[in-house]
Amino acid sequence: MANSQRKILVTSALPYANGPIHLGHMLEYIQTDIWSRFQKLRGHECHYICADDAHGTPIMLKAQQMGIAPEEMIAQVQKEHEKDFADFNIQFDNFHSTHSEENRELANEIYLKLRDAGYIKTKTISQLFDPEKLMFLPDRFVKGTCPKCKSEDQYGDNCDNCGATYSTTDLLNPYSAVSGATPIMKDTEHFFFDLPAFEGMLLEWIQSGSLQQEMANKLKEWFEQGLQQWDISRDSPYFGFEIPDAPGKFFYVWLDAPIGYMGSFKNLCDKRDDLNFDDFWSKDSTAEVYHFIGKDIVYFHSLFWPAMLEGAGLRKPTSVYAHGYVTVNGAKMSKSKGTFIKARTYLDNLDPEYLRYYYAAKLSSKIDDLDLNLEDFAQRVNSDLVGKLVNLASRTAGFISKRFDGKLADVTDKSLSEMFIAKQETIANLYETREFGKAMREIMALADTANAYVADAAPWQLIKDEAKQEEAHQVCSNALNLFRILVTYLKPVLPKLAQDVEAFLQMELTWNNLDVDLAGHEIAKFKALMQRIEMKSIEAIIDASTENLQVTKDVEAPKVEEVQTELEKEPLAAEISFDDFAKIDLRIALISKAEHIEKANKLLRLELDLGGEIKQVFAGIKSAYAPEDLVGKHTVMVANLAPRKMKFGESEGMVLAAGPGGKDIWILEPHAGAKPGMRVM
Ligand code: MSP
Ligand code: ZN
Repeated sequence: MANSQRKILVTSALPYANGPIHLGHMLEYIQTDIWSRFQKLRGHECHYICADDAHGTPIMLKAQQMGIAPEEMIAQVQKEHEKDFADFNIQFDNFHSTHSEENRELANEIYLKLRDAGYIKTKTISQLFDPEKLMFLPDRFVKGTCPKCKSEDQYGDNCDNCGATYSTTDLLNPYSAVSGATPIMKDTEHFFFDLPAFEGMLLEWIQSGSLQQEMANKLKEWFEQGLQQWDISRDSPYFGFEIPDAPGKFFYVWLDAPIGYMGSFKNLCDKRDDLNFDDFWSKDSTAEVYHFIGKDIVYFHSLFWPAMLEGAGLRKPTSVYAHGYVTVNGAKMSKSKGTFIKARTYLDNLDPEYLRYYYAAKLSSKIDDLDLNLEDFAQRVNSDLVGKLVNLASRTAGFISKRFDGKLADVTDKSLSEMFIAKQETIANLYETREFGKAMREIMALADTANAYVADAAPWQLIKDEAKQEEAHQVCSNALNLFRILVTYLKPVLPKLAQDVEAFLQMELTWNNLDVDLAGHEIAKFKALMQRIEMKSIEAIIDASTENLQVTKDVEAPKVEEVQTELEKEPLAAEISFDDFAKIDLRIALISKAEHIEKANKLLRLELDLGGEIKQVFAGIKSAYAPEDLVGKHTVMVANLAPRKMKFGESEGMVLAAGPGGKDIWILEPHAGAKPGMRVM
């Protein structure tokens, strides 16, 4: 490769230190890790930096709720985060905290440079203040009645019920979500960063930079709306850094958070003699700096951050790469559906490499959301990794050990391996441009070719024929060499598999030795590399992630579950007598069969076992359940409903389900101790 060595610094957004890492976060860390491992595999100097984002009001309040100091809480959370990342094979070169001395110094330094250059202004503003807690209230900690539709208990600056946006001070009957007290208006002096002063520079940066098209468009919209002064200070009590020339005032968490990228890198430089901080951050740096982020934090990274850097006389990022949001089974991750999956819950049940592969297979350079469909996930991993990739080695390696002393042949037909190696620039280019999905498709197409070759040559037949031993040796050696090339290509995505294959092939897999000659090379005995995903592991993850429908009072996520508000909106039906109620025969039923009905949009045909007696029911739950998910479940049915003739047949009862509709419908699922036929009282 004629590529000269690049100096690259890569970051992922810093996760907040008040909650666990979940599979939504993991998309970002996996995407960045693949990209950074790819750069290293190609021989570049690349440093992957991250940290916990430890400051802000939610973190302060959460620690208070737990009855511990914020320092103690963020230390605990950091430990958990680091363990989750390590177990997902995320290879940070440094993981630090924004609550660190390095970061305090850098934040002060940058702030003072901005102040001295005239980019910091002060202004007295009037803000909502909690007279009991004696603290100013961020928008999300004020609740009240929507000024427009009058619906109660709305948060901050927008109404969940009618969608209106308003200023927090317009809320009717406002109250503090922290203490319940009625907030008062109070004057306070705040510090502002003069973002509009950087408009020209930012416009130029957007046009010259290698920003994603969608991001450039979004930025243009923001420009049209006009840039605003950015409020960078918060009053005490606050968990953060005190502003050097303003006792009792603190930097807003989003000021020192991106500086945390530098703080963590500084911390690394201090540990290593060969790394120089200024080589990466000074105005004339020739190193490349990339930030991988989610689409929700583009504003901070593409406007505030480059402006702060410019204003402080530092270099700007080479680019900022945003990705979309993870949905699970087509919907926003939900605690009630068991799809708000913590990294730890996943790791307790499945190999991290599966998720790394699935995310890679679905990622592009775009900002589109990405759906983690759990069934598709299992199928894709089983078919690609187990069925195609690992199978290549498991079908051929045994013969090499048993018949040929573990040594590979001098393969004469190099047509396939040459074709595989010729793909290296295409594949490298796809990794480089973050088109991981396309890269995975290229690699799997090669795996298909290799499998077709092995199936065709059928070494298991050749080996039985005394005269065809050399041919069998050739085929198996050729197949293992193709397997080696494929695993090298996949090494950024599947580092653990690659490591196991390196042990098996007794050689390091690098981009530079793709065309190594393996004649006579000895390999180790083959051990199983990867198991299929069983649906029961996925069910176990969902079970462990399902929280019952309860309004949880949670300071980080003040939004009440949508489901709950929907339920509350449903008006109650007219009163009935006890006798009326007693007429309804509710029974536990086992769903013994469930199937699609041709031409039915909403209905599934169910067979319900009431402990011997089978009833047929047509249930309008197709939008929420696949038939295979229902079979074997217990539910509750109205067993004495008069049979009703429907378009597709006779329905002999009803199952009980709740939810707003669409994917959000849940059948009632009784405790496992309830047996089919039991009367529900
Ligand atoms: N602390 C800030 C970032 C500061 S960077 C100087 C923050 N933290 S976060 O924990 O909320 O999110 C960390 C990253 O995870 C963000 O880039 C965010 O977009 C990403 N994701 C969080 N939930 C996600 C999904 N459901 N899907 C994809 N990415 C998600 O923001
Ligand atoms: Zn409203």
